[in-house]
Amino acid sequence: MILLTGANGVVGRRVRELLVQEGIPVTAVTRGLDEAPQPENVQVVRGDLFRPQWIEAALAGVEAVQISPRATGPGLDELLKLAVKQGVRRAVLLSATTVAYPAGEARFAAQFQAAEDLVTRSGLEWTVLRLADFAANALAWAPQIKAGDVVRGAYARAASSPIHETDIATVAVRALRGTTPAESVYTLTGPESLDQEEKVRLIGAAIGRELSFQELPPEQVRHGMLAQGLPEEVPARLLGSLADYRERPGPTTGTVADLLGRPALTFAGWARDNAAAFGR
Ligand SMILES: NC(=O)c1ccc[n+]([C@@H]2O[C@H](COP(=O)([O-])OP(=O)(O)OC[C@H]3O[C@@H](n4cnc5c(N)ncnc54)[C@H](OP(=O)(O)O)[C@@H]3O)[C@@H](O)[C@H]2O)c1
Repeated sequence: MILLTGANGVVGRRVRELLVQEGIPVTAVTRGLDEAPQPENVQVVRGDLFRPQWIEAALAGVEAVQISPRATGPGLDELLKLAVKQGVRRAVLLSATTVAYPAGEARFAAQFQAAEDLVTRSGLEWTVLRLADFAANALAWAPQIKAGDVVRGAYARAASSPIHETDIATVAVRALRGTTPAESVYTLTGPESLDQEEKVRLIGAAIGRELSFQELPPEQVRHGMLAQGLPEEVPARLLGSLADYRERPGPTTGTVADLLGRPALTFAGWARDNAAAFGR
């Protein structure tokens, strides 16, 4: 049995699909009422992981836990103690490249660093996956692309190597199953560095339209996001890292290819896989 925190996140959903395909029983943690019928070997448990005491019973018989720091928040320390108590063997942490390659406000990287410290000292076998920007972050552009041919945003020249969620999930599943060496830190990125103009152009190619990126002042973008009701943290996280990635692109590693024995999936391929989300 494998227990997934953040089970409804970008990574969690894909990990869940891969585990189901492999016939491995899954416990998916959510706060909500997941009404969708689940495959036979998926059990859904509901509760708030920020106060995780309730989850102790669900940890019995679990071999490995996927940790999403966003989902576990301040409850991570207690969750790990409960996991040790219930005989869980290993933990796989979804961390971020910013721990080793600083970008954006230090407070966000510090949260990932704190989660790494807790997991690596927990007494469980552990794997830390330091993840680059998700290709799926580009879904935030979908409303603009459905409405027209121009994506407006800050820092056109900010560049990173976006990673396909399938690559993250494939590595995570191996780590959860204990088929990668334990006590390892992997920095996972996409295969190539792309700036925002290039990402928008590749989405256009995937949906058969000519799209362009128009740069706006960062403060205008921040005010727009706050006016949409987004919490302060969202523009702070985004604009801080973009500002730094304009000066120095995010890292590109060959770790996905090394681990999986095939090239990392491209952003162009991700855009084709997700063309429907952009109105195609
Ligand atoms: N996006 C990026 O570029 C990036 C880059 C590096 C690292 N990361 C990190 O990678 C991890 C995975 O990201 P992700 O986008 O796949 O999704 P995620 O943030 O792990 O998952 C979001 C899910 O967490 C659950 N959640 C939130 N608060 C919770 C709580 N109090 N109790 C229980 N569940 C809670 C929610 O599920 P329900 O709504 O079903 O409750 C939500 O669907 C995150 O920690 C993120 O910070 C992201």
